[in-house]
Amino acid sequence: MTKYKVLITGEILPSALAAIEEQCEVRQWQKSAPPRVEELAKWLEDAEGLFVTGNIAVNETLLAAAPKVRVIAQSSVGYDNIDIKACTSRKIPFANTPGVLVEATADLAFGLLLSAARRIHEGWDWVRTGKWQEGQLPLGVDLYNKTVGIVGMGAIGSAVARRAQASGMKVIYNNRHPRPDQEQLKTEYRTLSELLTTADFIVVLTPLTPESRGMFGAKEFAQMKPAAYFINAARGGVVDTQALYKALSDKQIAYAALDVTDPEPLPADHPLLKLPNILVVPHIGSATTETRNRMAMLAAENLLLGLAGKPLVTCVNS
Ligand code: DGY
Repeated sequence: MTKYKVLITGEILPSALAAIEEQCEVRQWQKSAPPRVEELAKWLEDAEGLFVTGNIAVNETLLAAAPKVRVIAQSSVGYDNIDIKACTSRKIPFANTPGVLVEATADLAFGLLLSAARRIHEGWDWVRTGKWQEGQLPLGVDLYNKTVGIVGMGAIGSAVARRAQASGMKVIYNNRHPRPDQEQLKTEYRTLSELLTTADFIVVLTPLTPESRGMFGAKEFAQMKPAAYFINAARGGVVDTQALYKALSDKQIAYAALDVTDPEPLPADHPLLKLPNILVVPHIGSATTETRNRMAMLAAENLLLGLAGKPLVTCVNS
């Protein structure tokens, strides 16, 4: 059997690689720094399928170098790195991996909220560095009876809402449009301004699009309560990093907890990391063995279906 030619732009889990290798001749970028298009040029020339990992920009330039590609699969729910219009105009189906990472990502978003509110990470640091003997850790805040405002109430937002409700929190949300099932979800729609001025905790889960880029800037932080906690588990680009820095250092808001940053990775000497009122983790929303495995296997399935000319399971541009 002639094998399909596939390019994988970074590391993927062995289970998914094995499934792909059964039917494909694989070329895989092995270095830790992401490749530039020129470095992939030779491989792109022949590739029939593209498995994207490592936040590579799939745009006109890359697609022009890949004339034979007929399917693109990526192991993530977010696809702000993919120019969907460019894929569609070349009739290339693109698939992401929605659904399979909902619960793990909601755990992480709510975990950030809880850890920030109760200073869990700071407490661990105190114990580890011998400060326990010296006095009391600054007090945290209750979740019970507080309001969480979810910006981007999709599947992950609804899963965060369930966790918040289990902790006795009231849930409000903002989306482009109110959800028809909001009563069932026991949540209430608010305009962004209403949400920002009312919420004690703001959890951002909105996808990064041209409209949402930089949607949290100086004006939005100024509307939040001085006691507000700001949690971003969406994409770093949704937030103006400078404005967040200023809001935190001026104590305009109380605390931030971020799974995602702009830039990403955040350099170790970045000013944000010098602040006392922030918690940053390295984009680990979906990073559990089971979830990453499900994501990689779904992406591999999409890739193989596309190569065989069949409809993809989770096609974005069908
Ligand atoms: C996604 O899948 O888009 C998540 O950000 C990965 O953690």
